[in-house]
Amino acid sequence: MAVELSSILHGGFAHPLSRKWQAERQLTKEMLMYPLFITDCPDEETLVSSLPGQYRRGINKLVPFLTSLVERGLKSVILFGVPLAPTAKDPVGSQSCAPHGPVIQGIQTLKSAFPGLFIACDVCLCEYTSHGHCGVIRPDGRLDNALSVQRIKETAIGYAIAGADCVAPSDMNDGRIRAIKEGLREVGLENKVLLMSYAAKFAGNLYGPFRDAAGSAPSFGDRKCYQLPPSGKGLARRAILRDLNEGADVIMVKPASAYLDVIADAKELARNVPIAAYQVSGEYAMIHAAAKAGVFDLKAMAMETFEGILRAGATIVISYFTEQVLLEGWLDN
Ligand code: PBG
Ligand code: ZN
Repeated sequence: MAVELSSILHGGFAHPLSRKWQAERQLTKEMLMYPLFITDCPDEETLVSSLPGQYRRGINKLVPFLTSLVERGLKSVILFGVPLAPTAKDPVGSQSCAPHGPVIQGIQTLKSAFPGLFIACDVCLCEYTSHGHCGVIRPDGRLDNALSVQRIKETAIGYAIAGADCVAPSDMNDGRIRAIKEGLREVGLENKVLLMSYAAKFAGNLYGPFRDAAGSAPSFGDRKCYQLPPSGKGLARRAILRDLNEGADVIMVKPASAYLDVIADAKELARNVPIAAYQVSGEYAMIHAAAKAGVFDLKAMAMETFEGILRAGATIVISYFTEQVLLEGWLDN
């Protein structure tokens, strides 16, 4: 017996083009943001072994590396400072916005070489603190929230003054979004600089390669008292609403693939701002490792993860795959 007429679906996606039409949004180059690790050794270019194909670079290596990417449509980057000098770290991370530090130098170098490139800066202290935590620690071992927010604000404003288009605090201290927004107004940059909140950032197992790259692993304890528990759907919703209220211009969910429901929640709760998803270092490394083991084709799997992230509701995707997407023309078909 023939199936009901209304049950016939296959005709709707028989052609490669009609398959594409099933997506509400297609991935474009404008949606991709590429993470860059910048060190304080000007000529360094070191492969991060746990992050296949990705390098830490000194200031002199940035422009030569990025030129071909910008030519092929790279629109935005997010900078992470990686201070390697032994004097660069102290308990309060005071070098986080040093004028000769890697991030400020990076902003200035990239702005003059690529005036149209959108430059976001991750704002955190873990790369600059001797203990590797994302805030200032009190003598009893707990986070000093007020002092941490003060330092995060100072750092964000330093990056904004240096010319960043976006500041993106990833420290997760309570109240940092309001403090940064106020700080931007104090220096007259509130109408110029975008504030992207790592609102729903989960403590999990997927940040290892990043911490190798950035040298930011905590020397004691973990980040569970400031990053969200992976099961915390309600907490993530509260954090998203809070950060929106405090003045976030973009809400980010991180990691991406195991948190697609949270991306969908963000899309629903924060419907008037763009939603960003960070496909983190562990997700990237996992896809590489499985592809190498023959589980699937690398490009096909990477593209499938992007489809999931877009379907869930993100319109900004921060991914280490950006380089390959552009250089190998994954979007040009
Ligand atoms: C700094 C920061 C981290 C990431 C982004 N900003 C590491 C962490 O929170 O431990 C992770 C990014 C990645 O894994 O790719 N706080
Ligand atoms: Zn941090």
